Amino acid sequence: MDPVRKSVCVTGAGGFVASELVKLLLSRGQYAVRGTVRDPDADRETWECGTAFFLEVERSSRFFIKKGASKNAHLKVLEGAEERLQLLKADLMDYDSIASAVAGCEGVFHVASPVLSHRPSNPEVEVIAPAVIGTTNVLKACYEAKVRRVVVVSSCGAVYANPIYPKGKVFDEDCWSDEDYCRKKEDWYLVSKTLSEREALAFAAKTGLDVVTVCPSLVFGPLMQPTVNLSSEMILKYFKADLETVENVLSNMVDIRDVADALLLTYEKPEASGRYICSSHAIKISDMINILKTMYPSYPYPKNFVEDDVNSVYSSEKLQKLGWSFKPIEESLRDTVESYKAFGILN
Ligand SMILES: NC(=O)c1ccc[n+]([C@@H]2O[C@H](COP(=O)([O-])OP(=O)(O)OC[C@H]3O[C@@H](n4cnc5c(N)ncnc54)[C@H](OP(=O)(O)O)[C@@H]3O)[C@@H](O)[C@H]2O)c1
Repeated sequence: MDPVRKSVCVTGAGGFVASELVKLLLSRGQYAVRGTVRDPDADRETWECGTAFFLEVERSSRFFIKKGASKNAHLKVLEGAEERLQLLKADLMDYDSIASAVAGCEGVFHVASPVLSHRPSNPEVEVIAPAVIGTTNVLKACYEAKVRRVVVVSSCGAVYANPIYPKGKVFDEDCWSDEDYCRKKEDWYLVSKTLSEREALAFAAKTGLDVVTVCPSLVFGPLMQPTVNLSSEMILKYFKADLETVENVLSNMVDIRDVADALLLTYEKPEASGRYICSSHAIKISDMINILKTMYPSYPYPKNFVEDDVNSVYSSEKLQKLGWSFKPIEESLRDTVESYKAFGILN
């Protein structure tokens, strides 16, 4: 007999974080997953990967390896996808498309949000509106559809950017980025994440909708698709010869598989509530590069480090108390590099 299927929706399913979550949900067997994408037909396109075009999908012992190909094809080859994954076209700014996607779902993971690699010419339209109005649209639709719980992916970007916070003090769930400060710095991503998370928690307080927010730090880890998202680019830059000198910042990082675990945990645990910081390693860039050098000595890593005194550290104690744990950084870095190699990204 079929196990009981619970319908859940993941917004922005083709993105870096959401793809890992979809994979985890499908692997559990009991979830039927609706993934929203802006362009469900994107798998008909062929994307350039390095200098070559590839079409076939391969599976290695460790990862699904899609060589080139398209935006959503990596989702369609996941185990269980044929029976239990449906991709639906939806845009965060189009309420009706979101409402159709979440109708009948027991749970919703709201992951989609603009993460741009370029400076927006109109930040209100390109970044802030899709994040904030998009979150309101998702929550309104969930409320109407009587969704049991919504897990909203926020960011440590909604936590740390506050000039009056004491230097060196550990950030926890009581910390919020200051909107005016982020606007002055023209960091529109931080503005968008701060406002959208505040909106999500305010909506929950106003309506009684069960909303949990999760704030990951810099997410890295093995790619499932050849398109490189912004946070993976931030790791990849250390492999490139053009960076002789880098700032030796204390980087707060978390493996994408641990983020997916955190999202599912906060969905499944009845006692989960409010906000959760999700960050596992605080590591100086020079220390990270030393680990990489030990495992992969031949890449042209940066040689010089300029010391930086911004040493922000995040506490994920609340999430750990809920049952969350994370991988050692060596394992995460190794799997990350292996996936880059498999896609030919490091060549
Ligand atoms: N990666 C990190 O280090 C990190 C850290 C903390 C928090 N986060 C959060 O994690 C989430 C996913 O980020 P990511 O790193 O996975 O980036 P990503 O790969 O760029 O994913 C972003 C997703 O949002 C979708 N999206 C953007 N605007 C949309 C709109 N108007 N309507 C519908 N979908 C829209 C994108 O769809 P298209 O594919 O159609 O563009 C894409 O699927 C975001 O909420 C981000 O703030 C990421």
